[in-house]
Amino acid sequence: MTSNIIRVRVARKQSEALDICSFELVALDGPGLPPFSAGSHIDVHLEGGVVRQYSLCNDPTESHRYLIAVLRDPQSRGGSAGMHSLQEGATLEISAPKNHFPLAHEARSSLLLAGGIGITPLLCMAERLAATGAQFDLHYCGRSRERAAFLDRIQRSAFAQQVHLHFDDDDAAQRFDIGARLATWSPGQHLYVCGPKGYMDAVLAAARAHGWPEQQLHYEFFSAGPIDTANDASFEVQVASSGKVIRVGKDQTVIQALAANGVELPYSCEQGVCGTCVTRVLEGEPDHKDMYLSPQEQARNDQFTPCCSRARSARLVLDL
Ligand code: FES
Repeated sequence: MTSNIIRVRVARKQSEALDICSFELVALDGPGLPPFSAGSHIDVHLEGGVVRQYSLCNDPTESHRYLIAVLRDPQSRGGSAGMHSLQEGATLEISAPKNHFPLAHEARSSLLLAGGIGITPLLCMAERLAATGAQFDLHYCGRSRERAAFLDRIQRSAFAQQVHLHFDDDDAAQRFDIGARLATWSPGQHLYVCGPKGYMDAVLAAARAHGWPEQQLHYEFFSAGPIDTANDASFEVQVASSGKVIRVGKDQTVIQALAANGVELPYSCEQGVCGTCVTRVLEGEPDHKDMYLSPQEQARNDQFTPCCSRARSARLVLDL
Protein backbone atom coordinates (compact mmCIF):
# COMPACT_ATOMS: atom_id res chain seq x y z
CA MET A 1 0.00 0.00 0.00
CA THR A 2 1.57 3.27 -1.08
CA SER A 3 0.56 6.84 -1.70
CA ASN A 4 1.50 9.16 -4.58
CA ILE A 5 0.27 6.82 -7.27
CA ILE A 6 1.31 7.75 -10.82
CA ARG A 7 -0.36 6.24 -13.86
CA VAL A 8 2.03 5.26 -16.66
CA ARG A 9 1.97 3.48 -20.00
CA VAL A 10 4.48 0.92 -21.24
CA ALA A 11 5.82 2.85 -24.22
CA ARG A 12 8.47 0.27 -25.08
CA LYS A 13 9.28 -3.27 -24.02
CA GLN A 14 12.61 -4.62 -25.14
CA SER A 15 14.61 -7.79 -24.61
CA GLU A 16 17.94 -6.83 -23.00
CA ALA A 17 19.35 -10.32 -22.40
CA LEU A 18 18.14 -13.87 -21.90
CA ASP A 19 15.17 -13.64 -19.51
CA ILE A 20 15.57 -9.87 -19.02
CA CYS A 21 13.28 -7.24 -20.52
CA SER A 22 13.39 -3.50 -20.09
CA PHE A 23 10.23 -1.40 -19.89
CA GLU A 24 10.08 2.25 -20.79
CA LEU A 25 7.30 3.92 -18.80
CA VAL A 26 5.80 7.29 -19.73
CA ALA A 27 3.22 9.37 -17.89
CA LEU A 28 -0.43 8.91 -18.79
CA ASP A 29 -1.46 12.18 -17.18
CA GLY A 30 0.63 15.20 -17.99
CA PRO A 31 3.90 15.54 -19.82
CA GLY A 32 6.51 14.66 -17.25
CA LEU A 33 7.43 12.38 -14.39
CA PRO A 34 8.82 13.33 -10.96
CA PRO A 35 12.62 13.70 -10.84
CA PHE A 36 14.86 10.99 -9.42
CA SER A 37 18.49 10.46 -8.48
CA ALA A 38 20.82 7.53 -9.22
CA GLY A 39 19.96 4.54 -7.04
CA SER A 40 16.21 5.29 -6.94
CA HIS A 41 13.49 2.70 -7.37
CA ILE A 42 9.76 2.77 -8.00
CA ASP A 43 7.02 0.52 -6.65
CA VAL A 44 5.11 -1.10 -9.49
CA HIS A 45 1.56 -2.22 -8.73
CA LEU A 46 0.59 -5.39 -10.57
CA GLU A 47 -2.52 -7.51 -10.77
CA GLY A 48 -3.66 -9.26 -7.63
CA GLY A 49 -2.35 -6.54 -5.32
CA VAL A 50 1.26 -7.52 -6.03
CA VAL A 51 3.70 -4.64 -5.51
CA ARG A 52 7.32 -4.91 -6.58
CA GLN A 53 10.29 -2.56 -6.44
CA TYR A 54 12.37 -1.95 -9.56
CA SER A 55 15.41 0.30 -9.83
CA LEU A 56 15.38 3.08 -12.37
CA CYS A 57 18.15 2.65 -14.91
CA ASN A 58 17.80 5.61 -17.24
CA ASP A 59 19.60 8.91 -17.04
CA PRO A 60 18.30 10.85 -14.00
CA THR A 61 18.26 14.06 -16.04
CA GLU A 62 15.40 12.60 -18.12
CA SER A 63 11.90 13.55 -17.02
CA HIS A 64 9.91 12.09 -19.94
CA ARG A 65 10.36 8.42 -19.00
CA TYR A 66 11.42 5.85 -16.45
CA LEU A 67 13.34 2.78 -17.57
CA ILE A 68 13.29 -0.43 -15.51
CA ALA A 69 14.63 -3.89 -16.30
CA VAL A 70 13.10 -7.09 -14.96
CA LEU A 71 14.55 -10.58 -14.73
CA ARG A 72 12.07 -13.39 -15.33
CA ASP A 73 12.24 -15.44 -12.15
CA PRO A 74 11.08 -19.06 -12.42
CA GLN A 75 10.14 -18.87 -8.73
CA SER A 76 8.11 -15.70 -9.36
CA ARG A 77 5.43 -14.96 -6.77
CA GLY A 78 3.67 -12.78 -9.33
CA GLY A 79 6.06 -9.86 -9.83
CA SER A 80 8.44 -10.81 -12.61
CA ALA A 81 5.91 -13.06 -14.37
CA GLY A 82 3.36 -10.24 -14.25
CA MET A 83 5.86 -7.77 -15.68
CA HIS A 84 7.01 -10.10 -18.46
CA SER A 85 3.41 -10.69 -19.51
CA LEU A 86 2.87 -6.95 -20.09
CA GLN A 87 2.83 -5.68 -23.65
CA GLU A 88 3.54 -2.24 -25.06
CA GLY A 89 0.56 0.02 -24.48
CA ALA A 90 -0.34 -1.56 -21.14
CA THR A 91 -1.07 0.85 -18.31
CA LEU A 92 0.31 0.53 -14.80
CA GLU A 93 0.24 2.29 -11.47
CA ILE A 94 3.59 3.13 -9.94
CA SER A 95 4.86 5.14 -6.98
CA ALA A 96 6.97 8.25 -7.22
CA PRO A 97 10.70 7.39 -7.11
CA LYS A 98 12.25 6.70 -3.72
CA ASN A 99 15.94 6.48 -3.04
CA HIS A 100 17.18 4.16 -0.29
CA PHE A 101 20.45 3.57 -2.17
CA PRO A 102 21.85 7.03 -2.90
CA LEU A 103 25.39 7.88 -3.91
CA ALA A 104 27.51 9.31 -1.11
CA HIS A 105 28.53 12.62 -2.56
CA GLU A 106 31.46 12.95 -0.16
CA ALA A 107 33.10 9.80 -1.62
CA ARG A 108 36.65 10.13 -2.89
CA SER A 109 36.22 7.00 -5.00
CA SER A 110 33.51 4.40 -5.52
CA LEU A 111 33.58 0.66 -6.10
CA LEU A 112 30.38 -0.57 -7.74
CA LEU A 113 29.70 -4.33 -7.59
CA ALA A 114 26.80 -5.66 -9.65
CA GLY A 115 25.55 -9.22 -9.67
CA GLY A 116 23.24 -10.07 -12.60
CA ILE A 117 20.14 -7.88 -12.69
CA GLY A 118 21.69 -5.84 -9.85
CA ILE A 119 23.36 -3.88 -12.66
CA THR A 120 20.25 -1.67 -12.94
CA PRO A 121 20.87 0.85 -10.12
CA LEU A 122 24.63 0.57 -10.48
CA LEU A 123 24.64 1.41 -14.18
CA CYS A 124 22.68 4.55 -13.40
CA MET A 125 25.21 5.35 -10.65
CA ALA A 126 28.15 4.72 -13.01
CA GLU A 127 26.69 7.10 -15.56
CA ARG A 128 26.15 9.72 -12.90
CA LEU A 129 29.67 9.33 -11.50
CA ALA A 130 31.14 9.49 -15.00
CA ALA A 131 29.16 12.65 -15.75
CA THR A 132 30.64 14.34 -12.68
CA GLY A 133 34.18 13.15 -13.36
CA ALA A 134 34.27 11.07 -10.17
CA GLN A 135 36.68 8.19 -9.71
CA PHE A 136 35.01 4.75 -9.81
CA ASP A 137 35.20 1.17 -11.03
CA LEU A 138 32.26 -1.09 -11.84
CA HIS A 139 32.57 -4.88 -11.63
CA TYR A 140 29.69 -6.64 -13.38
CA CYS A 141 29.40 -10.32 -12.45
CA GLY A 142 26.99 -12.77 -14.04
CA ARG A 143 26.36 -16.31 -15.10
CA SER A 144 27.05 -15.69 -18.79
CA ARG A 145 27.32 -12.94 -21.39
CA GLU A 146 23.94 -13.86 -22.87
CA ARG A 147 22.30 -13.21 -19.49
CA ALA A 148 24.00 -9.83 -18.97
CA ALA A 149 21.76 -6.83 -19.69
CA PHE A 150 23.01 -3.51 -21.04
CA LEU A 151 26.39 -4.72 -22.33
CA ASP A 152 25.99 -2.60 -25.49
CA ARG A 153 25.15 0.48 -23.45
CA ILE A 154 28.21 -0.10 -21.26
CA GLN A 155 30.51 -0.75 -24.19
CA ARG A 156 29.34 2.41 -25.96
CA SER A 157 29.77 4.51 -22.81
CA ALA A 158 32.60 6.91 -22.08
CA PHE A 159 33.46 4.83 -19.00
CA ALA A 160 33.73 1.42 -20.71
CA GLN A 161 37.37 1.16 -19.56
CA GLN A 162 36.25 1.39 -15.93
CA VAL A 163 33.90 -1.59 -16.27
CA HIS A 164 35.20 -5.09 -15.59
CA LEU A 165 33.10 -8.05 -16.74
CA HIS A 166 33.18 -11.40 -14.93
CA PHE A 167 31.19 -14.37 -16.22
CA ASP A 168 30.90 -17.75 -14.54
CA ASP A 169 31.13 -19.60 -17.84
CA ASP A 170 34.21 -17.75 -19.07
CA ASP A 171 37.84 -18.57 -18.35
CA ALA A 172 38.95 -18.65 -14.75
CA ALA A 173 41.33 -15.69 -15.09
CA GLN A 174 38.46 -13.21 -15.43
CA ARG A 175 36.41 -14.49 -12.48
CA PHE A 176 35.81 -11.99 -9.71
CA ASP A 177 37.76 -12.74 -6.54
CA ILE A 178 35.62 -10.98 -3.94
CA GLY A 179 38.02 -11.50 -1.05
CA ALA A 180 41.06 -10.25 -2.96
CA ARG A 181 39.27 -7.18 -4.35
CA LEU A 182 37.93 -6.15 -0.95
CA ALA A 183 41.09 -6.93 1.01
CA THR A 184 42.16 -3.30 0.92
CA TRP A 185 40.17 -0.11 1.16
CA SER A 186 40.92 3.54 1.70
CA PRO A 187 39.26 6.30 3.68
CA GLY A 188 36.60 7.92 1.53
CA GLN A 189 36.22 4.84 -0.70
CA HIS A 190 32.57 3.79 -0.87
CA LEU A 191 31.33 0.37 -1.91
CA TYR A 192 27.93 -0.20 -3.54
CA VAL A 193 26.57 -3.67 -4.14
CA CYS A 194 23.36 -4.96 -5.66
CA GLY A 195 22.48 -8.42 -6.92
CA PRO A 196 21.27 -11.83 -5.79
CA LYS A 197 21.25 -12.38 -2.05
CA GLY A 198 24.11 -14.92 -2.07
CA TYR A 199 26.35 -12.52 -4.00
CA MET A 200 25.51 -9.61 -1.72
CA ASP A 201 26.00 -11.67 1.41
CA ALA A 202 29.44 -12.74 0.15
CA VAL A 203 30.46 -9.17 -0.74
CA LEU A 204 29.28 -7.67 2.54
CA ALA A 205 30.80 -10.47 4.61
CA ALA A 206 34.16 -9.99 2.86
CA ALA A 207 34.03 -6.22 3.25
CA ARG A 208 33.22 -6.48 6.95
CA ALA A 209 35.88 -9.15 7.48
CA HIS A 210 38.43 -6.79 5.94
CA GLY A 211 37.35 -3.91 8.18
CA TRP A 212 35.50 -1.67 5.71
CA PRO A 213 33.70 0.94 7.84
CA GLU A 214 29.95 0.36 7.81
CA GLN A 215 29.25 3.90 6.65
CA GLN A 216 31.23 3.17 3.47
CA LEU A 217 29.04 0.17 2.59
CA HIS A 218 25.88 0.70 0.57
CA TYR A 219 23.58 -2.07 -0.55
CA GLU A 220 20.13 -2.76 -1.85
CA PHE A 221 18.55 -6.21 -1.68
CA PHE A 222 15.93 -7.13 -4.29
CA SER A 223 14.54 -10.00 -2.31
CA ALA A 224 15.15 -11.79 0.94
CA GLY A 225 16.03 -15.42 1.36
CA PRO A 226 13.50 -17.62 3.12
CA ILE A 227 12.73 -16.20 6.56
CA ASP A 228 12.96 -18.76 9.37
CA THR A 229 9.61 -18.74 11.13
CA ALA A 230 10.06 -22.00 13.05
CA ASN A 231 10.48 -20.31 16.42
CA ASP A 232 7.94 -17.53 15.91
CA ALA A 233 5.80 -16.95 18.99
CA SER A 234 3.04 -14.51 19.80
CA PHE A 235 3.80 -11.18 21.49
CA GLU A 236 2.18 -7.80 22.06
CA VAL A 237 2.57 -4.44 20.41
CA GLN A 238 1.32 -1.25 21.97
CA VAL A 239 0.29 1.78 19.92
CA ALA A 240 1.92 4.65 21.81
CA SER A 241 -0.56 7.34 20.79
CA SER A 242 -3.65 5.48 21.97
CA GLY A 243 -2.17 3.07 24.49
CA LYS A 244 -3.99 0.22 22.74
CA VAL A 245 -2.33 -3.19 23.18
CA ILE A 246 -2.62 -5.65 20.29
CA ARG A 247 -1.65 -9.31 20.36
CA VAL A 248 0.38 -10.53 17.35
CA GLY A 249 -0.37 -14.20 16.77
CA LYS A 250 2.49 -16.56 15.97
CA ASP A 251 1.21 -16.90 12.38
CA GLN A 252 0.59 -13.18 11.94
CA THR A 253 2.86 -10.30 11.00
CA VAL A 254 2.77 -7.12 13.05
CA ILE A 255 1.32 -5.33 10.02
CA GLN A 256 -1.51 -7.89 9.82
CA ALA A 257 -2.25 -7.68 13.54
CA LEU A 258 -2.33 -3.88 13.45
CA ALA A 259 -4.54 -3.83 10.34
CA ALA A 260 -7.00 -6.22 12.00
CA ASN A 261 -7.31 -3.60 14.73
CA GLY A 262 -7.77 -0.66 12.38
CA VAL A 263 -4.15 0.55 12.37
CA GLU A 264 -2.93 0.67 8.78
CA LEU A 265 0.79 0.98 8.07
CA PRO A 266 2.35 1.61 4.67
CA TYR A 267 4.06 -1.47 3.30
CA SER A 268 5.24 -2.84 0.00
CA CYS A 269 7.64 -5.80 -0.30
CA GLU A 270 6.46 -7.65 2.84
CA GLN A 271 9.87 -9.33 3.10
CA GLY A 272 12.09 -6.78 4.78
CA VAL A 273 13.93 -5.42 1.77
CA CYS A 274 12.27 -2.14 0.76
CA GLY A 275 12.09 -0.16 4.02
CA THR A 276 8.56 1.14 3.35
CA CYS A 277 7.20 -0.13 6.65
CA VAL A 278 10.05 0.93 8.98
CA THR A 279 8.51 1.98 12.29
CA ARG A 280 10.07 3.53 15.39
CA VAL A 281 10.23 1.38 18.50
CA LEU A 282 9.98 3.26 21.80
CA GLU A 283 10.27 0.29 24.19
CA GLY A 284 11.06 -3.39 23.91
CA GLU A 285 13.50 -5.39 21.83
CA PRO A 286 12.68 -6.28 18.22
CA ASP A 287 13.74 -9.56 16.63
CA HIS A 288 15.07 -8.18 13.34
CA LYS A 289 14.50 -10.36 10.30
CA ASP A 290 14.92 -7.76 7.56
CA MET A 291 17.67 -7.09 5.02
CA TYR A 292 17.01 -3.36 4.96
CA LEU A 293 18.48 -1.99 8.19
CA SER A 294 22.24 -2.17 8.67
CA PRO A 295 23.62 -4.29 11.55
CA GLN A 296 24.28 -1.03 13.45
CA GLU A 297 20.74 0.21 12.89
CA GLN A 298 19.34 -3.12 14.00
CA ALA A 299 21.52 -3.11 17.12
CA ARG A 300 20.07 0.24 18.21
CA ASN A 301 16.64 -1.45 18.46
CA ASP A 302 14.87 1.86 17.99
CA GLN A 303 13.20 0.89 14.70
CA PHE A 304 12.12 -2.31 12.96
CA THR A 305 10.26 -3.63 9.92
CA PRO A 306 6.82 -4.81 11.04
CA CYS A 307 6.22 -6.69 7.77
CA CYS A 308 8.57 -9.49 8.84
CA SER A 309 10.39 -8.68 12.09
CA ARG A 310 9.07 -9.78 15.44
CA ALA A 311 9.91 -9.26 19.14
CA ARG A 312 12.39 -10.74 21.57
CA SER A 313 10.63 -9.00 24.44
CA ALA A 314 7.03 -9.69 25.45
CA ARG A 315 5.90 -6.30 24.18
CA LEU A 316 7.04 -3.62 21.74
CA VAL A 317 5.80 -0.06 22.14
CA LEU A 318 5.53 1.48 18.68
CA ASP A 319 5.69 5.16 17.84
CA LEU A 320 2.32 5.15 16.10
FE1 FES B 1 9.27 -3.70 2.65
FE2 FES B 1 8.55 -3.98 5.20
S1 FES B 1 7.28 -3.68 3.50
S2 FES B 1 10.53 -3.73 4.42
